[in-house]
This record gives sequence, C-alpha cells and structure tokens, in this order.
Amino acid sequence: MAILPIVMFPDKILEQKCDKVTNFDRNLAMLLNNMHETMIEADGVGLAAPQIGLRKMIAVVDLDDESGVIELINPVIVEQDGEQTGPEGCLSFPEIYGEVKRAYKIKVQAQDRKGRHYEIEAEDFLARAIQHEIDHLNGILFTSKITHYLTQEELEGYEEE
Ligand code: CO
Repeated sequence: MAILPIVMFPDKILEQKCDKVTNFDRNLAMLLNNMHETMIEADGVGLAAPQIGLRKMIAVVDLDDESGVIELINPVIVEQDGEQTGPEGCLSFPEIYGEVKRAYKIKVQAQDRKGRHYEIEAEDFLARAIQHEIDHLNGILFTSKITHYLTQEELEGYEEE
C-alpha cells in the first residue's frame, strides 16, 4: 500500500464535480486501499478522491468503530431527516475548524469496490462524515457551510464533551 499526497485548498480540483466510476477493477481496489491508508496516516475519518487529485466519485469513511471501513463509490443521499450542528475539519484545510449544520440521519445508495449496489443508513457523527465526503464529490467544500469558525480553545471544549 502507499501513502498518497493530499491536495490542499485552494487547489481547483477540490471545487470540481467528480465523474462516476464505471470500471470496478483491480486499480480501483488498490486505490481504495491506498486512500484508506492515507486517511489513517493523516489522522482523518474520511477522504474523497479529489483530495488525492482524482476527479472520481470515490470516498472512504472510517470512524475506527463498529461501523468499519465504508467505501462509497458513486454515492447518492436518497433520504435525510433531522438536523445536527457540530464541529468539522478537513484534511485539505489544516487547522481550520468550524460548526456545520448537517442532516442528523441519512440513507445513501452507493456501490462497493466490486460494483455491487448497496444501501447504508447512518446517523449522528457517521452521517456527518458521510455528508462531508459526498459534498467533496460534488465539489462542495465544508468551508462554504461553516456558520461559525472555531478557535483551538472552542474545539477542545467540544472534544471534552
Ligand atoms: Co474534507
């Protein structure tokens, strides 16, 4: 596996809409493995393909809990419910944190690395992470949704909760 360089804002690729994946081959499997390793190494909970310079609808999310590694290929949010406001960061924006409003609960249709269609329901922080990554695939950055930027002190206050 390999650690890939992470694209930083203001690289233009971060604001472009990605193309759908049509080839579910060995290269895709390797890419997903490398994206996961890159995300772990960078201490993140999610990573989208544009963040490694690829304009494809591919993202990984891993909260390091019982939900496991979630591989999102061509994902679409098909249902959403409720609302949550909480702190968010992004590997492409070091040191930037802010409060972002998201749906509390979502249902997503996506494909796995073999191209099989599946559906996943998520709520709370997992739903937040998935919404953040799907936004990336549509060229939408979390900074466009920040209602309040957080200082280091405010962020630590959140983490102690
Ligand atoms: Co991000």
